[in-house]
Amino acid sequence: MSQTMPWWTGTVIYQLIVRSFADGNGDGIGDFKGLASRLPYLRWLGVKTLWLTPTYPSPLRDGGYDITDFKDIHPDLGDLASFHRFLTAAHSQGMRVILDLVLNHTSDLHPWFQRARWAPKGSTERDVYVWSDDPSRYSDAPVLFRHFEASNWEWDPVAEQYYLHRFLSHQPDLNYANPWVQEAMLEVVDFWLERGVDGFRLDAVPFLFEEEGTRCEGLPETHAFLRRLRARVDAMGREVLLLGEAIQPVQEAAPYLAKDELHGAFNFVLTAHLFAAVASGSTRQLGDCLNEAEHAVDGPRWALPLRNHDELWLGDGHLIPDEVIQSIRVGLPQGQGHWLNWGINRRLAPLLNGDPRSNRLLHGLIYSLPGMPCLYYGDELGMGDWPGLRDRDPNRTPMAWTPARNGGFSSAPDPLLVLPPITAPGYDYRVVNVEVQKQLPGSLLNWHRRMLTCRRLLPALAHGSLQLLPCSHPGALVYVRATEAMTVLVAGNVTAAGASFSLDLTAWEGLRTREVMWGCEFPLASREWFVNLSPYGINWWLIGEVDTAVPVS
Ligand code: NOJ
Ligand code: CA
Repeated sequence: MSQTMPWWTGTVIYQLIVRSFADGNGDGIGDFKGLASRLPYLRWLGVKTLWLTPTYPSPLRDGGYDITDFKDIHPDLGDLASFHRFLTAAHSQGMRVILDLVLNHTSDLHPWFQRARWAPKGSTERDVYVWSDDPSRYSDAPVLFRHFEASNWEWDPVAEQYYLHRFLSHQPDLNYANPWVQEAMLEVVDFWLERGVDGFRLDAVPFLFEEEGTRCEGLPETHAFLRRLRARVDAMGREVLLLGEAIQPVQEAAPYLAKDELHGAFNFVLTAHLFAAVASGSTRQLGDCLNEAEHAVDGPRWALPLRNHDELWLGDGHLIPDEVIQSIRVGLPQGQGHWLNWGINRRLAPLLNGDPRSNRLLHGLIYSLPGMPCLYYGDELGMGDWPGLRDRDPNRTPMAWTPARNGGFSSAPDPLLVLPPITAPGYDYRVVNVEVQKQLPGSLLNWHRRMLTCRRLLPALAHGSLQLLPCSHPGALVYVRATEAMTVLVAGNVTAAGASFSLDLTAWEGLRTREVMWGCEFPLASREWFVNLSPYGINWWLIGEVDTAVPVS
């Protein structure tokens, strides 16, 4: 790979929740000691970047996105020293670590908010948050957590004013129009960079500023602050990844990727279209969506998640067309119930009816598309969920390591566990766990590991161009990723039936083709090159002579 490419080009991001990953001190809660002990697993799996959901002190009323101190570690998870030990160990094993940076709001228990509500109206201390005497202000801004909140304003009896909260009512929005707030948050960034972190996943970036008569999303002032943030991290003199969470249509998310703003942003529209393709058995809209994303930005700058710690966000018709949402709701077995806020509150495996073929298909696509594929902890096993738990906790249960008690997550008695391990039929941790799947050559886990190995050996997948190839089969998606030195052909079938079709490979006429995963020779490329894909099948082929040897084990 060229020397000029930053470290995150094509990196595979593994998202995990520290308190649900591995418990190192037996109190039932995952922590940095436990996470550090599981780094060899992550290295073995082959992921290169770890994204940790918030690890700051917090009353945990929103999974840690309600923060009371931006410059410390939640005592359940350890302290700054154990964080440092973990970070050093991750670096020494070749992994990067990015933290969740929650810019938009704090917990209402944050000392800044407590000071603000007692401070005189109009004072700098009060103005650290957004206040109003009138709760109809900014009425064009949608309520985001519509199953929990009726309004974006909450009355504070001490301040005798309403405060703005774009998320939950205990998460007051910081007032970025106050220069003190901007500087304070930039100091938070300095603090963690000085401690060696490699970047940030920026939570809820569109909402930093407000303006009457708008949806209060992506305002020019918000972009101006993000440019300040970028200049600040650039001043550190090392490569720091800024990855934005902007749940927006591609055309609205793309401006965050301007040259002097963020390096990457999640493409949630693509996520929805991937599920819609499997649900409807058609790839037409998925292809359009890929083309749009590709043309909207330069380089592989989109992060590509399938699932994460939130609901599968489908939006209010603003994000993706209603008919796409309908196809997901009707076509996915678990898409009809479990609706939360603007999406479906299930993990990947149950959404796909526990079918490992569609797990492989969807990951095989994101692992071979331009950008940064994101793997949510447990999805490499096809881990299940607990739909009965509150809020988004169904998707946040402990990682399954072994068939032993608590899935090897913790030695604590059951009632102390952060959340119950999965024992649901078909997903029981005694079967679906790392130890068992490691031993089975055909397991989902071993498939993920092998695909990630292949991806590392094929630079065209990390930074090559993308070209969609025309295909007569409505349920197939076919594309080529290419650099000057290497061409990789990918074909996936989103239907539950086999797919048979021919591709016009005239551009590569006469060149050898070799399936990547097992290295089998296929017929020479030709004008009518036949492809047979099994139900939900996916294949990667190398076209032409390439030295890359993908190991067989
Ligand atoms: C987005 C996070 O992903 C979600 O979990 C959180 O509730 C909101 N931001 C508010 O911080
Ligand atoms: Ca613990």
